[in-house]
Amino acid sequence: MADTVLYERRGHVATITYNRPDKLNAVNGELRRDLNAAFARFRDEEEAWVGIVTGAGRAFCAGADLRDGAGATGEFAGTFWEKPTLNSFESGWEIHKPVIAAVNGPCLGYGLTLVTWCDFVLASDRATFGYPEVRLGIPAMVGAIRLPRRVGWADAMELLLTGEAVDAEHARRVGLVWRVVPHEALLAEAAHLADRLVAGAPLAQRATKEMAARAAILPPLEAVRFAETMRLVVGGSADAAEGMAAAAERRAPRWVGR
Ligand code: COA
Repeated sequence: MADTVLYERRGHVATITYNRPDKLNAVNGELRRDLNAAFARFRDEEEAWVGIVTGAGRAFCAGADLRDGAGATGEFAGTFWEKPTLNSFESGWEIHKPVIAAVNGPCLGYGLTLVTWCDFVLASDRATFGYPEVRLGIPAMVGAIRLPRRVGWADAMELLLTGEAVDAEHARRVGLVWRVVPHEALLAEAAHLADRLVAGAPLAQRATKEMAARAAILPPLEAVRFAETMRLVVGGSADAAEGMAAAAERRAPRWVGR
């Protein structure tokens, strides 16, 4: 993995950092590939239970790199549009581990597309959010799919159809942002939330998140059947036995993720 995305794991918490600060972490082909690789590593690394994604420098991510190839109106050169796969940025990844977005500054276009996939959006009071695509003459694609699922229709359309950016407090009011925190406290707040999440059994969390995600698109009966199956599978894990034993013995459980 090159340096355009950093991956660091401490204990059970992996932090993924957009790292092109001089270009406000704009997504060129290299960064996009590195970002997908970082999330694949997070998905596959057994010891990584909770993820935090943030940006180096003063931006979270200024969206697609407008200078990568022909720019916004043509084909992006290189790898930008290469092989959108079922398990990438665009599709939302089949990752059911909890992920926190720690939004430290401007979060635009592609950057916001990633954030609308995260479970928790913590925003610095310096963060801004927007889909500038219509101001470039192009549609926001995955943004148009995800944003109306996160916020009310008119609030989604305001961002998508005006292309204007809104501040963190506005984003919190409409439900896009979970909490706004002072800029200096952002990473500590994200780490604190990650620690709270690590206290839960990781397989049970993943099953819960996957059930919540699939239930949104399954008919009710199928959703219940799927949930029952997941409960049977995870109920047979070492962590489920440990959780029951710890409760009976009135002690804190020790999760192993198996
Ligand atoms: N693609 C490529 N480079 C970008 C970029 C992008 N999307 N966004 C910012 N940059 C680069 C700038 O060109 C500049 O590089 P330079 O110093 O080599 O000229 C550097 O990042 C700093 O950006 P700058 O515009 O000077 O910062 P600012 O604080 O004045 O403005 C923004 C911040 C985010 C408002 C502004 O950079 C912006 O509007 N960016 C484009 C957002 C966009 O349309 N994204 C596409 C979404 S599909």
